[in-house]
Amino acid sequence: MAQSSPVKGLGEEISSVQLDEKDVLKVEEDDGDVVDPWNVTSKSLTGVDYDKLIKKFGSSKIDQELIARIEKVTGKKVHHLLRRGVFFSHRDMHTILNLFEQGKPFFLYTGRGPSSDSMHLGHLIPFMFTKWLQDVFDVPLVIQLTDDEKSLWKNIKPEDAKKLAYQNAKAIIACGFKLDSTFIFSDIDFMNPAFYLNILKIQKLVNGTTVKAIFGLQDCDSVGKFSFPAIQAAPSFSSTFPLIFGSQTKVPCLIPCAIDQDPYFRLTRDVAPKLGYVKPALMHSTFFPALQGANTKMSASDLNSAIFLNDTPKQIKNKVNKHAYSGGQATVEEHREKGGNCDVDIAYQYLTFFLEDDEKLEQIRKDYTSGALLTGELKKILIDTITPIVLQHQEAMKQVNEEVLRQYMTPRKLKFDF
Ligand code: TRP
Repeated sequence: MAQSSPVKGLGEEISSVQLDEKDVLKVEEDDGDVVDPWNVTSKSLTGVDYDKLIKKFGSSKIDQELIARIEKVTGKKVHHLLRRGVFFSHRDMHTILNLFEQGKPFFLYTGRGPSSDSMHLGHLIPFMFTKWLQDVFDVPLVIQLTDDEKSLWKNIKPEDAKKLAYQNAKAIIACGFKLDSTFIFSDIDFMNPAFYLNILKIQKLVNGTTVKAIFGLQDCDSVGKFSFPAIQAAPSFSSTFPLIFGSQTKVPCLIPCAIDQDPYFRLTRDVAPKLGYVKPALMHSTFFPALQGANTKMSASDLNSAIFLNDTPKQIKNKVNKHAYSGGQATVEEHREKGGNCDVDIAYQYLTFFLEDDEKLEQIRKDYTSGALLTGELKKILIDTITPIVLQHQEAMKQVNEEVLRQYMTPRKLKFDF
């Protein structure tokens, strides 16, 4: 009886995903950094040690050579998030560029787990970068909203998670993605034959032991959690979207994401060759720190931990002034004498994400470090930088009515003439 158990049968079939040490994702080391898809914590004020993470995960550093190559291929100066090392790690970017140079384009895939309707500034980072990639490479983009994932992991009803997906989609659309080359979908709504066929193919190749090891699941976890990784993996393959790519099953995929999503895509890259598909390439970003410092977490339930997209200018000003962790000294005299510490100062850190002008940023860094610039002055620069960004996003969101939303979320052919 036991032998006919489908689970056992499956386990025997797969030589499966080979796990080596760096695939096991629950890493907590003596440095106190924990990075997996649900936890990003560090005991250090400067945050997670990213060079160490590259080694742990076995990815590659985005170095000057790669940046220069992207500039050569696109003919454009790279985005400041690349110049500043926010997107700091990658897998197979050179392959994507080699193919692109030969006139073989790729598609972009990114996503969001819609767990709350109050998105914050940090949530915009991967989308701002993805928009830039879409603009300079002029390729199609698919955006997965994992309402299924959030309903499995959080105490959210599937119906409510789906509603959150549609609300979050408006904020994402407001980042300026082109309608003719962007498709946004809710997993719950978009599940269809081609998508499901790929999910099934992936599920067949991955056993429970592997998923437990990569994602730290336990036997008492819902079976939905065990099967979810295949759902996040499937959009990496162009055959999941026949309306966009027709019968082309080997269009390469590039995934911009925060580094905590890498476990999903390591699994994806392991199964890809077994299915005759191309491994997706990746670009990983660091984390956006909470206002209280890089050793704390932003949370939708703590309104003071982040700048939310619906904050008023007054709220933004108050939050930055009252709650942004400062690397400055206790008194003005002491600050003038010793200078501030940009590595832990949240106002400075936020500027590296949002102030585009490199020269201005460098001047601010020098002045703050020397003590010429005071904490209050630095905070004012931050307020003056992010307030217009938030207001502009709010304006853009007003334009995203139900009809616009429907257009982006309707499965359809995208611009892709290759
Ligand atoms: N799991 C991601 C989250 O919780 C959402 C997601 C789905 C995603 N597919 C993705 C993120 C691809 C980046 C790239 O936010």
